[in-house]
Amino acid sequence: MPKTETVILRELLAREGGWVSGAALARQLGISRVAVWQRMERLRAAGFSFEAVRARGYRLTGRPATLHPPLLEALLPMRTRGFSLQVMDEVDSTNDEVARQLAAGRPAPFAVLARRQTRGKGRLGRVWHSDSPVSLYASLGFRPEVEPERMRTFTLWMGVNLCALLANFTGVEPGIKWPNDILFGDRKAGGLLTEARIDADRIRDLILGIGLNVNPPPRGWPAELANRATTLADACGQPVDLNRLAAALIGRVLLAYESFREDRHQDQFADLWARFDTLRGRTVTLLEGGRRHTGEVRGVDDEGALLLHEGRGPLRRFRAGEVTFEKPPAA
Ligand code: BTN
Repeated sequence: MPKTETVILRELLAREGGWVSGAALARQLGISRVAVWQRMERLRAAGFSFEAVRARGYRLTGRPATLHPPLLEALLPMRTRGFSLQVMDEVDSTNDEVARQLAAGRPAPFAVLARRQTRGKGRLGRVWHSDSPVSLYASLGFRPEVEPERMRTFTLWMGVNLCALLANFTGVEPGIKWPNDILFGDRKAGGLLTEARIDADRIRDLILGIGLNVNPPPRGWPAELANRATTLADACGQPVDLNRLAAALIGRVLLAYESFREDRHQDQFADLWARFDTLRGRTVTLLEGGRRHTGEVRGVDDEGALLLHEGRGPLRRFRAGEVTFEKPPAA
């Protein structure tokens, strides 16, 4: 059963800024008009604004800038309605929280989002700066029961799906930097962190973590990120509706997960990778197990390995590593 506030918001959103009568809401919900009014006041306190006119009802004029669970639920795509999600004010890491909940037996799939993380994790043991309530910190939990080898393209597949979503959402084409960075230009706007637990040759618990810099952090970037990070809002030149984005992202990730599980994602993976790949044709240095390899990137193979042409000899495949762009030689 959706929450009363979710139903009210769905009605208001369906009118796209038009009027919804309090009497009709009361009838639909089986509550009094006074009870409807009380809910509206609660929504107002949570950051919504409405116009209320006696003969016409209510009209939505503003929404909260941070995650609001009933709004998020109201915005979920139709096929995803009723999807199990949780929004936390603060957590150590949404990935760790999902891992704990999977271990405790929560039925999957589900999502945990947070307004702030105290120990946000990036790839390769790095810290993910997670102090902005207008950014997105989200993790989804799955139990795919597939062989571990099948997972090789999972993060990459999710990354290009995220790029496609962001392209629709912002009208600006993002890029993916192998294996998991989402860029606008050469600046990072987001990243993915996949973690898994394997039991008897099967992936038992799978956690997909997504961090996205959505709107500019109210307290600015820490110095080390100031020249490297960007936000979706900066990329498209206007504020981004965080709840709408989060709802669309959950919808897209669930669809992408289904095609991945059913193993019918390969063709689309190749197309999307070619569309968003920022490395193809560029000379990069790949750091892998303490060794440096410099060469020109020739895309990825269908197992997600990076293809590098080091000048002589055949193309080399790399399954892991950290890529840095080679600076053009000084003039
Ligand atoms: C990276 O680019 O290094 C990956 C960053 C992934 C960050 C997200 S934020 C939500 C989820 N929880 C975490 O602790 N990390 C991921």
